[in-house]
Amino acid sequence: MNELLGIAERLAREAGVIALKGRRSGDLGTSTKSSPTDMVTKYDKLCEKLIVDGISSARPHDAIVGEEGANKPGSTGIEWHIDPIDGTTNFVFDQPNWSVSIGVRDADGPLVGAVYVPVLDEMFTASRGGGSYRNGTPIAPRDVTSVSDALVATGFSYDPAARSRHGRTVASMVGNIRDLRRLGAASVDICFVACGRLDAYVEGGLNSWDIMAAQLVATEAGCTVSDFAGGPVVPAEVIASSPAIHGGIIDLFARASKESS
Ligand code: IPD
Ligand code: CA
Ligand code: CA
Repeated sequence: MNELLGIAERLAREAGVIALKGRRSGDLGTSTKSSPTDMVTKYDKLCEKLIVDGISSARPHDAIVGEEGANKPGSTGIEWHIDPIDGTTNFVFDQPNWSVSIGVRDADGPLVGAVYVPVLDEMFTASRGGGSYRNGTPIAPRDVTSVSDALVATGFSYDPAARSRHGRTVASMVGNIRDLRRLGAASVDICFVACGRLDAYVEGGLNSWDIMAAQLVATEAGCTVSDFAGGPVVPAEVIASSPAIHGGIIDLFARASKESS
């Protein structure tokens, strides 16, 4: 695990430094993907290539899946899930919340994860059974016991119909919580729950690369992470929260979804 975490951390930092430098130097080479608002820049592609090359040279027989097309089969049972820039819209608009997210799993689930937020120079890391850290210091969620006291983040997929539906759901939640945030990068949102900057995060329709690393950072920090019904988390349904409010957030989200459908 130490070897895997060392590689994930090194490559997340290297890619993040290159992307941040690129962001500050100008032309991002932006185009669109699944919808007019789903953007990709030359740095998403460059960072994915750098990370895939780095993993392939250190661990040639591991499988790799990346958002920008990496799809390499392996024979070791170890899979790398890469989001080279999570929060591309923030990256393009020069908002600070974007990350390089590298998660590793085996047959039993997430094994190690590194989420690097270049603008903040914050590296979130976790390994199974080994706890969670921000720049090497252990992190924990906020000790919150009431949903009405919770600062909750969410996010929206790129599909316009799904966005409208989810917008109605969160509108119906907002009167029952402290406040709502849409910070723009799933991995960062989940790491922020892990370190107490948020109390909960709810989003549907994600992919493995959005959550593989951050989900481990959250669980190892002591958060509860599940699907919308409290079962094992899947990218299609993610609720991460401080542990005492998890049931309350699930109930509130279920009620709000019903009201808005
Ligand atoms: C997106 C971000 C966003 C979330 C979307 C993701 P991308 O990832 O994590 O916060 O709401 O669902 O697709 O496209 O910037 O890598
Ligand atoms: Ca993403
Ligand atoms: Ca991305």
